Order: sequence, then C-alpha cells, then structure tokens
Amino acid sequence: MKTIKLIFAIMAAMVLAVSCGQKKAQKVLVLYYSQTDNTKLVAEDIAGKLGADIERIEAVNPYDGDFMQTIERCMQERKDGVIPEIMPLKSKIAKYDVIFIGYPIWFGTYAPPITKFLQEVDLSEKIVVPFCTFGSGGLESSMADLVNVQPNAQIIAGYGVRAARLDAMPAEVDQFLKENGFISGEYVKLGAFPEPHEVSEAETAIFDAATGDYPMMHAKAKMVATREIPNGTEYFFIAEDQPREAREDMPPAGELQVYVNVVGDEKPVFTKVVR
Ligand SMILES: Cc1cc2nc3c(=O)[nH]c(=O)nc-3n(C[C@H](O)[C@H](O)[C@H](O)COP(=O)(O)O)c2cc1C
Repeated sequence: MKTIKLIFAIMAAMVLAVSCGQKKAQKVLVLYYSQTDNTKLVAEDIAGKLGADIERIEAVNPYDGDFMQTIERCMQERKDGVIPEIMPLKSKIAKYDVIFIGYPIWFGTYAPPITKFLQEVDLSEKIVVPFCTFGSGGLESSMADLVNVQPNAQIIAGYGVRAARLDAMPAEVDQFLKENGFISGEYVKLGAFPEPHEVSEAETAIFDAATGDYPMMHAKAKMVATREIPNGTEYFFIAEDQPREAREDMPPAGELQVYVNVVGDEKPVFTKVVR
C-alpha cells in the first residue's frame, strides 16, 4: 500500500513539474487587409508557419479600382476626413494573446481599413505584431501610428517587405518568427551596423544601381555603413532625396535611410527606405 501511495505521489509531482515548466500556449490570430493580395501572401505564410487562425479585414465599400483610382479615392477621403467602414470581424479578439496585424502601406502608413479596425478595437495587454508590404517602405512610420492609437498594447517591432521582393519573404518571415521566439530553430544573428562613413565611388555606384530605376526616389547617397548577411553584404545608406514639385501623392524630399542588399553577383536591391 505504501509503495502504491509513493508511486502516486511521484506521478503527481511529475505532472506538476511538467505543467509548471510548460509555458501556456499562446493563441495567435493573423488579421490583415490586402487590396492586391501582396499582404495576403505574407499573412498566409505567417499563419501557416504558426498554425494560427487567420482572417481578412474587408471594407464595406471595397477599394476595387486600379492603382490611380485607389490613389484618387484615398486622397479625397483624406481631404474629407472619411475613414471607410469595415465588415464585422468573425474572430473574437478577446480569445487571443497575440495578434499579427498586416497591411499595405498607403501614404506612409497602414491602409484606411486598418485605421478603422484600430479605432474600433481595444488591444490593451495584447502582444501585437505588425507586418506590411510596400513599394519602398513605411513599416517604421506605421508602427509609430499604431503605438499612438493603441498605447496599451505590447507592440513588437514588425516585419515589412517590398512588393518587388516577395520572393525573399518566406525565408525572411522564418528568420523573423525565430528571432522573436514565435517558432524555434536555428537562425542567423546579424551584427550591428558600425558608424556610417562618407560614401566612396564604388558605394555610390551600388546605391545608384539599387535605387536608380525606382520612380519615387531621386536620391544621392552621402554616408554608409555595412554588415555581413548570409551570402552577402547589407548597406545602410544615409541619402538626400532631391527637391521636386510638391505633390500629395509623392513622398517629400529630405533625408532618407536606404537599406540595400548585395548577394553574390546579383544586382543590388534596396530592401526598404525609412523617411
Ligand atoms: C493608395 C496607395 C498608396 C500607396 N502608398 C504607398 C506609400 O506611401 N509607400 C509605399 O512604399 N508604397 C505605397 N503603396 C504601394 C503598396 O503599399 C504596395 O503595392 C503593397 O504591396 C500593396 O499591398 P496589397 O497587395 O496587400 O494591397 C501604395 C499603394 C496604393 C494603392
């Protein structure tokens, strides 16, 4: 009898030890808005890797025009202070610990259906992970807006990718999810950039090759720092965008930070611009 009691006591202690040692599994929801399905691809990749629930946010009056029609509708709405209504969400936010929020960058921040969502929801105490797609950049500025409107959420520095670099996205998402502890596994820990120095001719040529055919930027590289990345080098340029005619649908002139990857013999590509 004593032996049986002892066995039960040991088993109970083992169950307790296991349950105390285990972190409660976090419930994760991936929510996103996407007009032309770039952000949808990222959302599906993240949800697939995490086994998370996923839902697309829809505008009641969808943005279903082409690029210029969307720009024009959006500019008019901004002028009129209109934020479009969205369809009610099926997901119950209260059920989740972690919310990934995905969006395309429109005019330097999240697209208006996300503005509406963030007005209607309270993300206090939730872990919030922004992710986005863009022509040239906007992760940092959209994150600053997100912090302003949801000051009590625990917002993690997010992931952003250019629409032109979606091929690189699955590997970058893998690295991002590992770095932030959402999945386990080996990943490359990148070193910090050293202090920038004045650009050389060769570095200017790399900058020009990476940015020259991008119509929204007419910039001149001034300073640079580099660090090693898998199979190549990442350049962090400080550049000056040249003044041009002021237009609401064009980014302003001024100082830019431009990140450029050079991998093997491939043409240099810029990965993001921070304005
Ligand atoms: C109205 C509008 C405004 C945009 N503004 C920006 C911008 O400010 N900066 C940028 O880098 N890209 C901008 N873009 C490009 C989109 O962010 C990019 O194409 C994105 O990948 C689209 O994502 P989606 O396919 O999920 O809708 C804009 C696109 C549209 C339609």
